Amino acid sequence: MTVAYASGKVILFGEHAVVYGQPALAVPVTQVQAQATVETEPEGQDITIVAEDLEQSYTLEQAPPDDALRAIVVGTLEHIGVGTKHDLTITVSSTIPIARGLGSGAAISTAIVRALSRHLGHPLSPQAISNLVYETEKIHHGTPSGIDNTVIAFEKPVYFVRDQKTEIFPVKSPFLLTIADSGIASPTRIAVSHVRRAWERGREKYEELFDEIGTIAEMGRQAIERGEIETVGRLMNENHRLLQLMGVSSPELKGLVEAAREGGALGAKLSGAGRGGNIIALVTQETRSRVDMMLRLAGAKNVIITEVG
Ligand code: PMV
Repeated sequence: MTVAYASGKVILFGEHAVVYGQPALAVPVTQVQAQATVETEPEGQDITIVAEDLEQSYTLEQAPPDDALRAIVVGTLEHIGVGTKHDLTITVSSTIPIARGLGSGAAISTAIVRALSRHLGHPLSPQAISNLVYETEKIHHGTPSGIDNTVIAFEKPVYFVRDQKTEIFPVKSPFLLTIADSGIASPTRIAVSHVRRAWERGREKYEELFDEIGTIAEMGRQAIERGEIETVGRLMNENHRLLQLMGVSSPELKGLVEAAREGGALGAKLSGAGRGGNIIALVTQETRSRVDMMLRLAGAKNVIITEVG
């Protein structure tokens, strides 16, 4: 039996603009994880996928052709070059909430690729895993930038520009991020297509917003590399303001961002596709409990804290 895990992720800077070629920064969140287990079964069983959280179980043959779990299993087997005739049970489960900007789909796919490739004696590099997961991200998201599969497969802070080599960047002074869930599911595909339609109607305004966000992501990377944490917070606030102008915030996200700032966070912004999902806030050991309390009072459904660096 082979077991593998994959962490969740948050985007620090640059969501949406990254789809249009701007840089973005993302970091893994190890407090939430997806897990995949692969077991060899007696001959004739075929490959069975068990999605524990959804209480579903089906063989590869029974799965619809656009099933994302089927796609990642077949993609991995084809990549390794071992064909699809195996007798295996692949069980997946996850503590990463779905459609909240924490990368649950990419993490489940990554855990499957890791477990399956190791089980068959062909462990794969982070880049190969990322490329395979990107293919299933297209099923979930339509036109993904590729940032989710990259940060989750590399499990390091990444500076990501679409279609360019991924850069892993150093964090000079580790810092704390509070991640608060609005409780509202927001499928990435819908938020991304909303932005696309708005961009088509007003290219000039949106391209200006994308450029400004790209500059913030660059400055954010520099500030993190230099350990200038207060600048990171200020840039988070600025990035959130631009995301609001882009139309991907919501009253609930606004309320959470303001609550975090009132609680003493150095900066706060929505993270991921927006319109729901999570916000992130930059906190210290001194401010973390107060920010946590303010977020819960403002209606956060769940609050977790992670250290970056
Ligand atoms: O999966 P999410 O919700 O973190 O959103 C991904 C970030 C977007 O920039 C909105 C889309 C993308 O493909 O990069």
